[in-house]
Amino acid sequence: MLIPINSSSFLPWQDGEPPPQWGDIFGNDHPLALEIGCGVGDFVVQMAALHPGWNFIALDFYNKGCLKTCKRIDKGGLSNVRVLRVEARSFIEACILPVSLRAVIINCPDPWPKMRHRKRRLVNTAFVNRLSSFMLPGADFYFATDFDDYGLDVSEFMTRQKGFENALGGDSYRHRLEGYPVSKYMRRFLEEGKQIYYVHYRRSH
Ligand SMILES: C[S@@+](CC[C@H](N)C(=O)[O-])C[C@H]1O[C@@H](n2cnc3c(N)ncnc32)[C@H](O)[C@@H]1O
Repeated sequence: MLIPINSSSFLPWQDGEPPPQWGDIFGNDHPLALEIGCGVGDFVVQMAALHPGWNFIALDFYNKGCLKTCKRIDKGGLSNVRVLRVEARSFIEACILPVSLRAVIINCPDPWPKMRHRKRRLVNTAFVNRLSSFMLPGADFYFATDFDDYGLDVSEFMTRQKGFENALGGDSYRHRLEGYPVSKYMRRFLEEGKQIYYVHYRRSH
């Protein structure tokens, strides 16, 4: 059952409805940053406070997570974040204009560790290629995972991904990223002694 979310940070958009008018919703034309799979929202509230000049769209199809994210945003008094309970790929196609995103952030996506399930992973060359058409020149692409195989895969294919420039001084990944907030899953993995793989690229100009 869907938990009702009564928060001005929640956007109850559904498939088939006209795309949200982001300028009207945020009350300004600041650039958009997209977090895919925001979980309980601890990352996006930190990131939105660090970038008050960006409007954040936080997505997750995890119902309780959307509720928790909204509560965090409201508690923090942040006006530059909206939360949607949607599947990322169909939402992007329906609601994001080409060449409009200032940043795309994907932290600790489900790793699908079994070999036969790997094709279910969200982040692959086709998805990043599709994402690139929604990104502004110079837009940031951030990916983080604790899962070695996923981190190595994304960091390796990004070196060959057309339309992106490395933003880590040539390193395909790092285990620390200065100034990048820690999400719930990252914190959990760090406490377990695991390393996070951070991948950071920019859309070419
Ligand atoms: C492992 S959790 C990580 C949550 C958070 N990013 C963090 O680092 O704490 C992955 C999240 O991505 C969401 N998710 C996975 N695939 C998604 C998709 N296609 N569209 C929207 N959300 C998705 C899941 O519901 C889940 O909340």
